[in-house]
Amino acid sequence: MCGIVAYVGNKEAYPLIIKGLKRLEYRGYDSSGVALMNENGLAIYKKKGKVAALEAELSTKDTQATIGMGHTRWATHGEPNDTNAHPHFSNDRRLAIIHNGIIENYSAIKQKLQQKGHTFRSETDSEVLIHFIEDIRTETGKPLEEVVRLALQEVVGAYAIVIMSDEHPGQLIAARKGSPLVIGIGQDEFFFASDATPIIEYTKDVVYLDDFEIAVVKNNELQILNLDNVQQVPYIQTLEMELETIEKGGYDHFMLKEIFEQPRSIADSMRGRLRADDAHLQLGGLRNYLDKLADSKRIVIVGCGTSWHAGLVAEYLFEELARINVEVEYASEFRYRNPVIKEKDIVIAISQSGETADTLAAIELAKSKGALIFGVCNVVGSSIARATDAGAYTHAGPEIGVASTKAFTAQVTVLTLMAIEAAQRKGTISEELYRQLLIELETIPAKVERVLQTAEKIKEIAFIFTYARNFIYLGRGLNFPVALEGALKLKEISYIHAEGYPAAEMKHGPIALIDEDMPVVFLATKDSSYEKIVSNIQEVKARKGRVIAIITEGDTLIPTMVDFVIEIPKTHEMLTPLVSVIPLQLLSYYIAVMRGRNVDQPRNLAKSVTVE
Ligand code: F6R
Repeated sequence: MCGIVAYVGNKEAYPLIIKGLKRLEYRGYDSSGVALMNENGLAIYKKKGKVAALEAELSTKDTQATIGMGHTRWATHGEPNDTNAHPHFSNDRRLAIIHNGIIENYSAIKQKLQQKGHTFRSETDSEVLIHFIEDIRTETGKPLEEVVRLALQEVVGAYAIVIMSDEHPGQLIAARKGSPLVIGIGQDEFFFASDATPIIEYTKDVVYLDDFEIAVVKNNELQILNLDNVQQVPYIQTLEMELETIEKGGYDHFMLKEIFEQPRSIADSMRGRLRADDAHLQLGGLRNYLDKLADSKRIVIVGCGTSWHAGLVAEYLFEELARINVEVEYASEFRYRNPVIKEKDIVIAISQSGETADTLAAIELAKSKGALIFGVCNVVGSSIARATDAGAYTHAGPEIGVASTKAFTAQVTVLTLMAIEAAQRKGTISEELYRQLLIELETIPAKVERVLQTAEKIKEIAFIFTYARNFIYLGRGLNFPVALEGALKLKEISYIHAEGYPAAEMKHGPIALIDEDMPVVFLATKDSSYEKIVSNIQEVKARKGRVIAIITEGDTLIPTMVDFVIEIPKTHEMLTPLVSVIPLQLLSYYIAVMRGRNVDQPRNLAKSVTVE
């Protein structure tokens, strides 16, 4: 995790860096810091807490500089405090570093440096790296970029780093392995950042640094070389992001904005891919691989958290529609097993950020076993998108709220398109069902919009349950992963303990938890398991559980049995998760707000989990 931003050019660096850090705060928010250089030398300022605390601290300081860098931290080595915050100085305080990632062999390097007389001020692995670079420079006397290259050849782990030196006022050196780094190229100015959001209002010309590459800006020029010292030609891309997509636009929180964006983000994830009137379905990025998908013997889906839940939805879809055997794996477990990958197996990696370390490692493992790998990612040009053989972007737009909402529905939409396409090629669905699903998919944004219109009612229910201490979420079939997702949303932003379960599993244990203090959210839409779920509701009501049921509009039975209902429009059973998840997102949002939680930046979490 951690967010990094750096600037060199002709503008004032500090305001630009602070603004960038605020945009990157979703990546970590336990402490932050900046390094600035002017005629008085290289200065570092750091502060525990949010970027706003750093900004307040610096309001009385001299922040004039046209070169600088900043960091917002998610602690790995060392508790969150002022000292462990980045940037870090070298021993002689002439070099400074910001780092996102983990240096695994830092302890051995640290010991050696301590023997040579280095004194460490923090407990971080990052400080060790800058001391190491300083040590090589002292030993070899080589230019800084060469020294950085030599140091990185010795380093085990993951990093995106930027380095400044007080000897080179116009120079920034950056490098990456396993953690993202984007370079923005403006008019006589350069930006470095963990993602494009701090850059977007200044330039749309960017270069995504690759693993094992070092970028050097000096004398107003950008040079890229790799760890073997071979010059690379920068591939300049044009950012497609717009500024308004990363601002709150009048909403209290990014999460609420992103929930309300879903009619558009779902439509965007289908745009250019689906035209129901002439039964047109096209997945450009997978164009050359769709026959292989249809022909596959087994699909292994890997992901983490919400993306793993989207994978579970896809399991039902691929099995039901395309009759392909699917296994859904936590990437963190998959990567440390010795999974069996056979010919005609396909691995699908799902990731909003495209940077999740466990998912990346799972991809590398699957690759080493010869698997064909597809990616379903939201962030264009991200590490996972680049590591896969082919893929389909979800096009949900930047998701800033740490709790994933619109990325989930966009992932499910894209996976649905993939399953329908595979089924059609394979001939496992009729032409009629194929058309019906496409027509129904086109109606989903409007149906989601209708659910959003019930937000006030959901808010009232949230008010009643604000101080609940536990929650259970139950669903069957395609609504089971939705139950898991609903429980995850509630626990991560409200800190209420919540469990998702398949409704029928309740009687094998969790039913013991049911009493008048236990709210139970049922996903009880009119589908093939409706009668069964009605029985499950009765089992809970018989034990005095308080039931909130997500039901299909027009259902007259369930409202007579439960405490609260939230209606959603009817859709095809295969598409239900896209609609039934919306009230759960809103319920957890309102409960968290009423409990006074920091919804966009819940404690202990970060948006992009680039450590394992
Ligand atoms: C939950 C959430 C996380 C992510 C998980 C994977 O709201 O956001 O559980 O889904 O960390 O992240 P990505 O999808 O970026 O790989």
